[in-house]
Amino acid sequence: MGLQRLQKVIAEAGIASRRKAEKLIQEGRVTVDGEIVTKLGTKVDTFSNITVNGEPIERESLHTYLFYKPRGVVSTVSDDKGRKTVVDYFQDLPYRLYPVGRLDYDTSGLLLMTNDGELANLLMHPRNKVAKVYVAKIEGQLQPEEIKRLSRGIEIEHHKTAPAKVKVIRSDQKKKMQIVQLTIYEGHYHQVKRMFKAVGHPVKKLARERYSFLTLGNLVSGKYRELSHAEVDRLKHVD
Ligand code: URA
Repeated sequence: MGLQRLQKVIAEAGIASRRKAEKLIQEGRVTVDGEIVTKLGTKVDTFSNITVNGEPIERESLHTYLFYKPRGVVSTVSDDKGRKTVVDYFQDLPYRLYPVGRLDYDTSGLLLMTNDGELANLLMHPRNKVAKVYVAKIEGQLQPEEIKRLSRGIEIEHHKTAPAKVKVIRSDQKKKMQIVQLTIYEGHYHQVKRMFKAVGHPVKKLARERYSFLTLGNLVSGKYRELSHAEVDRLKHVD
């Protein structure tokens, strides 16, 4: 791994964002091999013993997986109702993975799982506007005016959504439903369902088919594959 900047190592351990890690260092709350270090940019190696607020940080090698989340699974690390969680699918791996963001219990599709805290922070930060592409089966048919409202931004419970892309894939007049692709660049709680509900078309079924430049490819539901270094690098440089 070679030498790395202290704040980067702390951020990668998932303890804090890089900015917060810098603050922790400056406040004298970080030690390296028993010495308090307050200088930003101090270099450490794989064998340095680092503590933050007196607690040793754990340094696993970093791994990120692209997972096809099935419906009927929660996107948390544990569930108080005993339901199956996304982490259950990774039991055989020796890493403490967690999801990057969330998909609802009844939503399927692409979910990244990682132990790279810095990557997760970066991808989830609203400033970075990572594209998420969803396919929704909705009740009724969107009217041109509703498509405009969804694309421009719409009020959903005290929040106005950022501009989005809307593409009608298929309409079924008889069944009174439509399949719509929606691309959003933020990730508020139940955002897609709330956006469609706000224009009067409740979502019946939802899946995420793309996250940034990543798609599910040939993956089947419940399976995952590890991202390559090149893919992780690309994710880190997406804007
Ligand atoms: N928006 C939703 O409403 N649900 C999801 O699972 C993801 C985005």
